[in-house]
Amino acid sequence: MEKILITGAIGQIGSELTMALRERYGKENVIATDIRMPTDVDLRDQGPFEFLDCLDPHHITRVMQIYQVDTIYHLAAILSAVGEAKPNQAWMVNVNGLYNILEAARQYHCALFVPSSIGAFGRSTPKDKTPQDTIQRPDTMYGVSKVTGELICDYYHKRFGLDSRGVRFPGLISYETEPGGGTTDYAVEIFFEALKHKKYTCYLKEDTSLDMMYMPDAITAMIQLMEADPSRLKHRNAFNVTAMNFTPAQLAEEIRKHIPEFEIEYSVDPIRQEIADSWPNSLDDSAAREEWGWNPKYSMAALTKDMLDKITERIELPSEQKSR
Ligand code: NAD
Ligand code: SER
Repeated sequence: MEKILITGAIGQIGSELTMALRERYGKENVIATDIRMPTDVDLRDQGPFEFLDCLDPHHITRVMQIYQVDTIYHLAAILSAVGEAKPNQAWMVNVNGLYNILEAARQYHCALFVPSSIGAFGRSTPKDKTPQDTIQRPDTMYGVSKVTGELICDYYHKRFGLDSRGVRFPGLISYETEPGGGTTDYAVEIFFEALKHKKYTCYLKEDTSLDMMYMPDAITAMIQLMEADPSRLKHRNAFNVTAMNFTPAQLAEEIRKHIPEFEIEYSVDPIRQEIADSWPNSLDDSAAREEWGWNPKYSMAALTKDMLDKITERIELPSEQKSR
C-alpha cells in the first residue's frame, strides 16, 4: 500500500497533485504538508494535512514514522524570481531542505520525486532543443540550487540505492492556485487579466521564447515517472519534459482568437528578463519519451481554450462579458 507524503502541498503544483494522488491512491494515503495552512476546503479536509517545515529534520522523520510513509513528492521550494530577491532563503529551502528530505527518505527507504526546472540550464547551454545531457552552468541562485538538487539526488541513488526520480519542468500553467513567484508566471496572469480587463502588461519582452506545459500534463508526468519500471530508466535526475513553446506575443495572438479586443503591452522587468534570457528556447525531451513513455496532450491552442473556459466558470464577470 502506498503512503505518500507531499511537501509544499499548498503551492501551484502541490494543490493539484494532492487531489490527483488522493483520487488515485485513496484519500487517507496521501499526507499533504506545507508551512502554510490550506485555505482550500477540499485540500484541508479530504485527507491528512500536517504543518511541516522541510528545514526541520526531526519533524520530517516524526511525520514519516506516524504515517509509515513510503513515497515522497518533495515540492517545497523557492522559485526563480523570489530566489533572486532572497538568495539565502532559496539556498536554505532548495538545498538544505532537500538534503533533509533525502536523509529521511534514505533512513525510511522511501521513493522520492523531486522536480528540477529549465532553470537548471544557463547561458552556455545550447539554447535550441536543449539536449538531455549537456552543459549546466546557471547564474541564478534558483538554477544553482536546482543543479545541486539534481546532482545530490543522483548521488543518493548511486551511493545508497535510493529510488530518486525527477523531471526538469518548463513553465507550468494552471488556474487552481496562483504561481509562487517564478519567471514564467506571466503565462498564467495573462489569462486572468484577459478575461477581467481585456488587457495585460507583460514583464517579459514580446519575443521571449520559453517552453511551457499545462498542469494536467505535469501531474501525469510526475505520476507516470514514479510508476515507471525502474529497469527502463537510464536517467534519473532529471528528465527534460516539455509540451509547447511560445513567446508572449504568440500567446496573446492565441488569446485574441477567443477575445478579439484583447491587448498586450510590455513593461520589461530587467531581473526576470535576464533570468528568462539565460534559459533555453526549447527542450529536447526524447529521453523521457523513450524511457517512460512521456507524451503530453495539451498544445498551446488546447491550453488556451481550456484556461479561458475554466477561469470564466470561476470568476465573477459582468454579464455582457460572460457571453464571450
Ligand atoms: P510554489 O511556490 O507554488 O509552492 C511551493 C510551496 O512550498 C509553497 O506552498 C510554500 O509554502 C512551500 N514552502 C516554502 N518553504 C517551505 C519550507 N521551508 N518547508 C515546507 N514548505 C515550504 O511552487 P510550485 O510551482 O508548486 O513548485 C514546486 C516545485 O516544482 C519546485 O521545486 C519548483 O522549483 C518546481 N518547478 C515549478 C515550476 C512551475 O512553473 N511552477 C516549473 C519548474 C519547476
Ligand atoms: N516556472 C518556474 C520559474 O519561473 C520555472 O522553474 O521559476
